[in-house]
Amino acid sequence: MSNREQWSSKTGFILAAAGSAVGLGNIWKFPYIAGENGGAAFLFIYLICILMIGLPILNVEILLGRTTQKNPVGAFKALHGDSHWKYVGGLGVLASFTILSFYSIVGGWSVAYTFEALRGTFHSFETPQVAAEFFNLKNSNPAWVVGYHTIFFAMIVVIILSGIKAGIEKASKFLMPVLFIILMVLVFQGLMLPDSDKGMSFLFNPDWSKINAKTFLLALGHAFFTLSLGMGAMMTYGSYLSDKDDVVNASYLVAFLDTLIAILAGVAIFTVVFSSGYDPTAGPGLVFHVLPPLLAQLPGGYIFALLFFLLLTIAAVTSAISILEVSVAYLVDEMRYSRKKATLIMGALVYFAAIPCALSFNVLQDVTILVQGKAFTFFDTADYLASNILLPLGGFFIAIFAGYVWGVDEVVKNLLKGNSESVYFGNTILESSSSKKVFGLLIRYLSPILIFLVFLYQFGWI
Ligand code: PFF
Repeated sequence: MSNREQWSSKTGFILAAAGSAVGLGNIWKFPYIAGENGGAAFLFIYLICILMIGLPILNVEILLGRTTQKNPVGAFKALHGDSHWKYVGGLGVLASFTILSFYSIVGGWSVAYTFEALRGTFHSFETPQVAAEFFNLKNSNPAWVVGYHTIFFAMIVVIILSGIKAGIEKASKFLMPVLFIILMVLVFQGLMLPDSDKGMSFLFNPDWSKINAKTFLLALGHAFFTLSLGMGAMMTYGSYLSDKDDVVNASYLVAFLDTLIAILAGVAIFTVVFSSGYDPTAGPGLVFHVLPPLLAQLPGGYIFALLFFLLLTIAAVTSAISILEVSVAYLVDEMRYSRKKATLIMGALVYFAAIPCALSFNVLQDVTILVQGKAFTFFDTADYLASNILLPLGGFFIAIFAGYVWGVDEVVKNLLKGNSESVYFGNTILESSSSKKVFGLLIRYLSPILIFLVFLYQFGWI
């Protein structure tokens, strides 16, 4: 345990954790989910989910890692012996396979589109329809999808092989500021466009008529996904922290950065979409069908399209490393494998597990299963299973564990161990008995009950 690698600084951890949180969820998923579900009305519900459910669980996850200095399976074992709780950690390892198998495909598309942007391909697209045809044509070729999945995956494996400080931390310290700068450039150019206010009002004016129980389900599922919760990614990153680090403060920062970047991505995307008079409710195709021609047609469009796909690639890489690290840490801690052996073995397993998702757009496109009346391919199923089932389920058990098994008193006592940096946004806030009570209420009652209701709703039982 003493030779476990640690982050070299608090900033290193924050950037790595923010890198995990800020991903395709913020740039590829959030804008279209918000667009389809009432804009600001969705944003409002989503913020409530982040604050009341995401934030407490984020604290608990990082703390579980910091306290036990272990991967998710080892963390539960360390606190509760060889009991059934270790399967909650196991669920995380399973989720890491499921998520990465579709994530790496979208990551591969992002890499591919960065190259296409570099070659100036998007200039020839007159309309999003042409762009959609291009996207479908490319995806109908299995070698293209698998090839870019391979390139994307290789980048992640190389980073993970280099370890915590020299790999994950170094990559995040370089990539996250670059991501932020690119995003600011795109936001700024978006705001300069004619009719950019239409995009802004779409994002910030609420349409309450779109809000129903399903919106809540989506917002909660997305809150888990976007904060990388429920599968032990934050637990694993937390396990490379020392007792001196303030978990509460770090959690606020990570949740804040993640939300800020999702909103900024929404601004960057919707200003362009509205100023070109297009429909924002284009589903997942928004980023790959609608944006390339719209960005390319702007003055200086070559560079904006390139920047956008670079942004998407960076966001995907820093998240994907945290997903793979969960399974790698499991092998390193529990099986005593070297980092190299663990990375190569897990990397190969997850790489092959993703192939059916890659083939969902071509050879296996007709292989579907019926989920809630819709035909889902492997790709859709992996996305659905992870966001709507595995992550909330993991979150549910983590809340139950913290609230009833480990106990709120013990959780708060451990949270207070770190050096506090701020009275309001650090662990000092938990010293007051009222905020401890609120924390207890959220983790013992609100989180598990709401997650449970979401499940009941999802399976049509309420
Ligand atoms: N938070 C990432 C995103 O928003 O794209 C996705 C993710 C990363 C989910 C790590 C889960 C995870 F453990």
